[in-house]
Amino acid sequence: MAEYREVKTYDIPARLKGKGTGSHDRPKPHIDEATYKSNYQASITKIDEFWGKLGRETIDWDVPFKTVRHGGFEKGDVAWFPEGQLNASYNCVDRWAFRHPDKTAIIWEADEPGQGKEISYKELLAEVCQVANALTNMGVRKGDAVIVYLPMIPEAAVALLACARIGAVHSVVFAGFSADSLRDRAVDCDARVVITTDEGKRGGRTIATKSIVDAALKECPKVEHCLVVKRTGSDVPMQEGRDKWWHDAAAAERAYCSPVPVQSEDPLFILYTSGSTGKPKGVVHSTAGYLLGTALTVKHIFDVHENDRFACMADVGWITGHSYIVYGPLMNGVTTLIFESTPVYPTASRYWEVVAQHKLTQFYTAPTSIRLLRRLGEEHVKGHDLTSLRVIGTVGEPINPEAWDWYNENVGHGECAVVDTYWQTETGAHMISPFPGATKTKPGSATVPFWGVEPVLLDPQSGKLIEGNEVEGVLAIKQPWPSMARTIKGDHQRFLDVYLKPYPGYYFTGDGAARDKDGYIWIKGRVDDVCNVSGHRIGTAEIESALIQHPGVSESAVVGIADEVTGQAICAYVALKPSFSYDSHEALVKELVLQVRRNIGPFAAPKKILVVKDLPKTRSGKIMRRILRKVASNEADQLGDVSSLADPSVVDGIIEVWNKDQ
Ligand code: PRX
Repeated sequence: MAEYREVKTYDIPARLKGKGTGSHDRPKPHIDEATYKSNYQASITKIDEFWGKLGRETIDWDVPFKTVRHGGFEKGDVAWFPEGQLNASYNCVDRWAFRHPDKTAIIWEADEPGQGKEISYKELLAEVCQVANALTNMGVRKGDAVIVYLPMIPEAAVALLACARIGAVHSVVFAGFSADSLRDRAVDCDARVVITTDEGKRGGRTIATKSIVDAALKECPKVEHCLVVKRTGSDVPMQEGRDKWWHDAAAAERAYCSPVPVQSEDPLFILYTSGSTGKPKGVVHSTAGYLLGTALTVKHIFDVHENDRFACMADVGWITGHSYIVYGPLMNGVTTLIFESTPVYPTASRYWEVVAQHKLTQFYTAPTSIRLLRRLGEEHVKGHDLTSLRVIGTVGEPINPEAWDWYNENVGHGECAVVDTYWQTETGAHMISPFPGATKTKPGSATVPFWGVEPVLLDPQSGKLIEGNEVEGVLAIKQPWPSMARTIKGDHQRFLDVYLKPYPGYYFTGDGAARDKDGYIWIKGRVDDVCNVSGHRIGTAEIESALIQHPGVSESAVVGIADEVTGQAICAYVALKPSFSYDSHEALVKELVLQVRRNIGPFAAPKKILVVKDLPKTRSGKIMRRILRKVASNEADQLGDVSSLADPSVVDGIIEVWNKDQ
């Protein structure tokens, strides 16, 4: 445990004490050390009282709830605020549009600097209503699924809120996914409508979104309509009767639409995420519990106040974008930023220009971007006025102390709270993170649990609780919390099997973690066959099944390898069919990478592909990934016991291929 014993502890920073450089009005943090402690205690001991009060204060209800929580991990029947009725779009838009109509709801920072715009709460309400009416005209009703395949434009937030307004369930598919992945998701959730753009823009490049949708829809018989936002104005084919331009459809509608009340437990959205086996899972989130979790974590983990301008640089296609671009900030009635570009377009100063221009108060990104920018040099950060910032956060993967320090010094100037937020698609909102005005931080540690979250460490084999400090184990959660996922679309048994059965009585995160001498949590990474590349979660089984579709591949095994910038990278071992012949090794490797890009999406492309004669298997035919991981980590001298392999000599062949590839 050496690496996390020695680090420095940072006290509550200047800007959270109303001090620091620059002439900014810096509010007092909502939570200090004492209130964190007393709230946390109350949140796990007086559960109904604590959450009942916050539920009433945070959400505007159409019908109040009577019961705070029901069910548990045993049966997987968790329900929060069950009798309550509400509408997510009313809570995110209307109540603020009525209170402060001209306040900016969304700052859109377009791919090309200077081409963005600001949208007020009043304007947001009008557009959400028009699109909600347009969707209703297309036959979308409460409970129907709508696929959203959009790049980072304001219409992405509008689309989500328009679905929520009429009780429809959105399922956003990240616009980097291939046509095959889009098709699988649309079919799995029985979508009736797909929302997309003519094209997307990112980092000066054009993404052919509509043509990807067209390819996917060839095999989605249930999709009746496609609503197309004009982003670039390029000439794209529109299928008569199926495709409609967003702007035409919206303009024809009244700019008011009554929000449809839904039950607390009705689904707000489905979001597909990778697991260690099988196809991606459609994680289903509830309406009230999810909104409460995202609203409270924006308020308290980012210490957001009324006049703040909050920026999360994630993509709306992932859970981070759902919770911290759209729902969480808008539940607090503050200004949120939608960023279409990349950290390095047109230059590596882009992030910092955006912070200075919009006087952002919170900034949230992934460790991968920080590592990339650190490598490119401090000169890109210097000279930009970043004094508006109070809280800077990271998410998605463990952050190494060097990257943490760089972020703290160069972006936060040692005066901002750095929040390393640990959570998952399934948890809906932050689970473990510092509170800016309450928690001393340690670079590399996610620190302390959010209210209502009881993290425990378990022995991976026996499942026994590991007590005390300076210990490691698998990370599990003891009690249901409001924003947790409720099920997997169409497969509740899988929900039970993956999260609730492995360690009965607990929610299993799939991560390993340690608790240090002060009780702080350090996330160690996945303990299953899930890779984390640039904070994107990718199942090794998905890549394997993409590779196997190549005519030459007989078997494949994928492992994650350490990468300085992306955290992990994909390394695929491939065995070919004996009958398969090919001319050039380079061309074959290219073809295999292309196979993965086409099947899943460019972000899942393997960094390394090793063509081997055979994969190491036990006598019962199971691939021993442990060996493949060791070889790929340059630790072939530490393979341990290989006697259970059916043919131990296979290992020599693999090591030989690895060495040749270096
Ligand atoms: O392994 C953990 C890692 O990301 C996984 C969740 O991935 P996903 O559902 O795609 O959600 C990402 C955004 C919340 C976790 O199981 N992870 C997330 N945050 C952290 C992290 N690992 C270490 N530190 C974090 N702060």
